Amino acid sequence: MIEKRRSKIQGWGVYATQAINKNTRIIDYAGEKISNQESLKREQRYIKNGHIWCFKLTNRTVIDAGVGGNDARFINHACRPNCYIHIYGGTIWIRAARRIRKGEELTYHYNTDGEGLIKCRCRPGCQHLI
Ligand SMILES: C[S@@+](CC[C@H](N)C(=O)[O-])C[C@H]1O[C@@H](n2cnc3c(N)ncnc32)[C@H](O)[C@@H]1O
Ligand SMILES: [Zn+2]
Repeated sequence: MIEKRRSKIQGWGVYATQAINKNTRIIDYAGEKISNQESLKREQRYIKNGHIWCFKLTNRTVIDAGVGGNDARFINHACRPNCYIHIYGGTIWIRAARRIRKGEELTYHYNTDGEGLIKCRCRPGCQHLI
């Protein structure tokens, strides 16, 4: 259903290799389950290389896709994305927010905490920070 390819937004991205129906569970955001405290330490290290791998699962736990992650970690952010996040049964699902055409890049809104440090390149002229 999906594959990792070079992205027009930044670095690697994930693309639909076939049409995907609205609400389909496309992929889970895999990685090591760690405490919030541990993730704050790791995030500081990752951000120096421009990466965001830690995804908040609950108020206490975070999934670090830098360890044991799958292709979900290469899905880029967009301010008007075609996917959304659904946390269910301890799993972070990336689901289709609408019907996605074959060849479209998958995106979701990162909803990052704190100040944005990365200039968003989701579309020409986007002024947001992520
Ligand atoms: C989870 S990774 C996504 C995969 C990334 N493109 C790569 O090649 O590793 C998140 C990183 O991708 C980049 N990124 C994602 N969405 C972006 C966007 N809309 N504009 C600029 N950079 C973005 C940022 O460097 C961010 O830290
Ligand atoms: Zn944007």
